[in-house]
Amino acid sequence: MNERIRADFPILEDIIYMDSAATSLTPEPVLEAVLSYYREYNANVGRGVHRLSQVVSQKYQNAHRKVAEFIGANEGEVIFTKNATEAINMVAYGLRWAKGDEVVTTLLEHHSNFLPWLRLREQGVRVKIVEPSKSGIFDISDFEQAIGDRTKLVAVTQVSNVLGTISPIKEMAAICKENGGENTLLLVDGAQSVPHIPINVEELGCDFLAFSGHKMLGPTGTGILWVKNPHELEPTFFGGGMIETVSRDDYTLAGGYERFEAGTPHIAGGIGLGRAVDYLNDLGMEKIRVHEESLAKILLEGLRDIEKVQVYGSTNLSERIGVVSFTITGLHPHDIALMLDEASDILVRSGHHCCMPLMHYLGLEDGTVRASVYLYNTKEEVDTFLDTVEGIAKVV
Ligand SMILES: Cc1ncc(COP(=O)(O)O)c(C=O)c1O
Repeated sequence: MNERIRADFPILEDIIYMDSAATSLTPEPVLEAVLSYYREYNANVGRGVHRLSQVVSQKYQNAHRKVAEFIGANEGEVIFTKNATEAINMVAYGLRWAKGDEVVTTLLEHHSNFLPWLRLREQGVRVKIVEPSKSGIFDISDFEQAIGDRTKLVAVTQVSNVLGTISPIKEMAAICKENGGENTLLLVDGAQSVPHIPINVEELGCDFLAFSGHKMLGPTGTGILWVKNPHELEPTFFGGGMIETVSRDDYTLAGGYERFEAGTPHIAGGIGLGRAVDYLNDLGMEKIRVHEESLAKILLEGLRDIEKVQVYGSTNLSERIGVVSFTITGLHPHDIALMLDEASDILVRSGHHCCMPLMHYLGLEDGTVRASVYLYNTKEEVDTFLDTVEGIAKVV
């Protein structure tokens, strides 16, 4: 993108950051929003009547509205959580499960969208796992076979955090309703999609969307759960701030997001997240997608030309984002990551990326090196990355 953006991320003066799929960097305006909460209107939300309480409650609510609008949803449907993992677990804990219910998930999933479903087997829930091709592409007919009238939930990632591939969520949503029926719910793990491609929940046709605020320029400790029908989900946590009334032996729950946010929330984080959404909107998600696609192209083509380098995932740019996994014959992924850091201050992720079942399926027991780009990365950085990888591959 441009110099103005780089100036908002002073941390980039010394490093080449290619680990945004783990957590993104935080621009100055988001840091300022967090600080101004503590400096100017530090108070709790939704409880008091004093002036600071009113200001902060309004700003915290505005942050929900901004996030909701960002994904084409309504304000009361967007719940702030501490990360995507908590958001997904809230669905696993908040739905009522019966013996014989089925969950359909895939082998592409991050552990956060896998373990919560495996755990349900203790309650007699059956978990079906759909396999993608080795490059991370699904045969949609496998979902047609897996989803049936016992399917209560289909839980799939929109973008793989290992292979960067984009899954056909709209088609999956249609199969949910056709094969499963009106009561079959679709949960989309948007941790790797929402920060990088324009998303509209209505167009996707899902019932839940979980994603991470900290991967989209927001502060750490922020995540989001969007719920289409909040009244169909039980809250996971109970206590202050989420009720209408309480008597000695009963209570009624508040409506909207408050129902799911018991206790004092991460107020500064939520407000910072709202500012992050403003920042993304100012740049434009379409433009961000185009920029990242151009970097992904150089990355993929460059890596493919280096001897001893294997690249994983689809090479079709329209079905992937700028998350690129690779290995170098004869080197452990952790060693490659350390060499990139030492040689050129390049920071990448290495290992199994919280996707052990997928790594096993791909025969990559040591995992991969994963380079992931975002709006602040430049073509020059990608060139330096490719030169350094080439140098590392030569010395093996
Ligand atoms: C696809 C995917 N799902 C879920 C998560 C978990 O996100 P969080 O760390 O916000 O809980 C990640 C994190 O890397 C991810 O990539």
